[in-house]
Amino acid sequence: MRPRRFLPTGPLKGRIRVPGDKSISHRSIMLGALAVGETKVTGLLEGEDVLSTAAAMRAMGATVTRTGEGAWTVNGVGVGALLQPEAPLDMGNSGTSTRLLMGLVASHPITATFIGDGSLSKRPMGRVIDPLSTMGASFEASEGGRLPLILKGASPAVPIRYRLPMASAQVKSAILLAGLNTPGITTVVEPVPTRDHSERMLRGFGADLTVETDADGARVISIRGEAELKPQTIEVPGDPSSAAFFIVAALVVPGSEVLIENVGLNPTRAGIVQVLRQMGGSIEEVNPREVGGEPVADLLVKHSALKGIEVDPAIVPAMVDEFPVLFVAASLAEGVTTCTGLEELRVKESDRISVMATALAAAGARVRETEDGMVITGTGGEPLVGTNGAIATHLDHRIAMSMAVAGLASRAGVEVDDVRPIATSFPVFEAMLAKLGLEGLAQ
Ligand code: S3P
Repeated sequence: MRPRRFLPTGPLKGRIRVPGDKSISHRSIMLGALAVGETKVTGLLEGEDVLSTAAAMRAMGATVTRTGEGAWTVNGVGVGALLQPEAPLDMGNSGTSTRLLMGLVASHPITATFIGDGSLSKRPMGRVIDPLSTMGASFEASEGGRLPLILKGASPAVPIRYRLPMASAQVKSAILLAGLNTPGITTVVEPVPTRDHSERMLRGFGADLTVETDADGARVISIRGEAELKPQTIEVPGDPSSAAFFIVAALVVPGSEVLIENVGLNPTRAGIVQVLRQMGGSIEEVNPREVGGEPVADLLVKHSALKGIEVDPAIVPAMVDEFPVLFVAASLAEGVTTCTGLEELRVKESDRISVMATALAAAGARVRETEDGMVITGTGGEPLVGTNGAIATHLDHRIAMSMAVAGLASRAGVEVDDVRPIATSFPVFEAMLAKLGLEGLAQ
């Protein structure tokens, strides 16, 4: 464990460029590994989760090489040609690697064992085991459909039409990736839209994929199997989920003004910007453009007096990873913020409702956990008291970073029990925070 106390700071000033989007980074390596020829990726997130995906694709036959900072090449084997890995695939902390790779293996004639850390081994895999079993794959999972598990792929797999029982981009993507090597058409019906990076990138690699809207307004996504993917050149935009920590930090620390460059603003991801603006946050989009087929802008964020709001549950999928840091913003806002419809937060790297409620209460915030959300009464801009002991992060990077932000806007600081998990998604988080603090001091 590596504990650290995050202390109150003066204004945060300057400009930063957050690392590449985690979701897009995973997908660029996976699809590159299935295309014949060389895919070139720049701006790849070199966090532990993405490195787990890279190692797994190597173990299944692809050549994945780092050529410079964030610059990688992937020489793929072709759809249908993944090799059987010799050793268990170690997924570390990464749910995205696990669920998407289970989809890939499910329609190949290979058997793979998936293992992961203490957090990942508690997370439900039944949500992918169910549809992939219908496609013909077989599973030997640990109790409750968890890791470690052994997956035997089906060849040929059977195409299915599957209606998602929960809003999950990971489940959607697992089925679409399985569909790549399945004869015929595989269809996922998505009643509530989730991040669409898989659809965008599958099309970019040349897959025959269509998206329609049915009579009930659900998205119907179909992919034609036995696809041939063509290698691509991909520039990964900055991760809005990583940017969110600095957006909130700049909003809550008095006197701050920060420019965050190159932030991906795909509408299926950018809910946090919308909600923070509704709360009164000053977030200006500068130089909007397109990077790697995704909308991107630089964000100029200034300290703002935030107000509590009722967060519309319809926006939850577009900011599902940003609630821990939104709870921090709400703890410092004036009035009450109510969040509902957050059931999925309970099965992330940790139970993010309960862990954040405990952590924020320990830091002096007024929070009430509900079955599907949180009710927070803010301080009206006054700093939080801070913590005595260390708060428990439960191997969850986003808890560690959210509580680090809380520490900046506290009197005594906030101690986090373990900052190591931050490296799964944002290895340079602490360095960037230090840079903005120093530039603030210098002014
Ligand atoms: C992800 C999807 C989300 C998100 C995760 C990354 C992805 O999960 O929480 O961090 O890359 O597809 P679900 O949409 O499956 O809940």
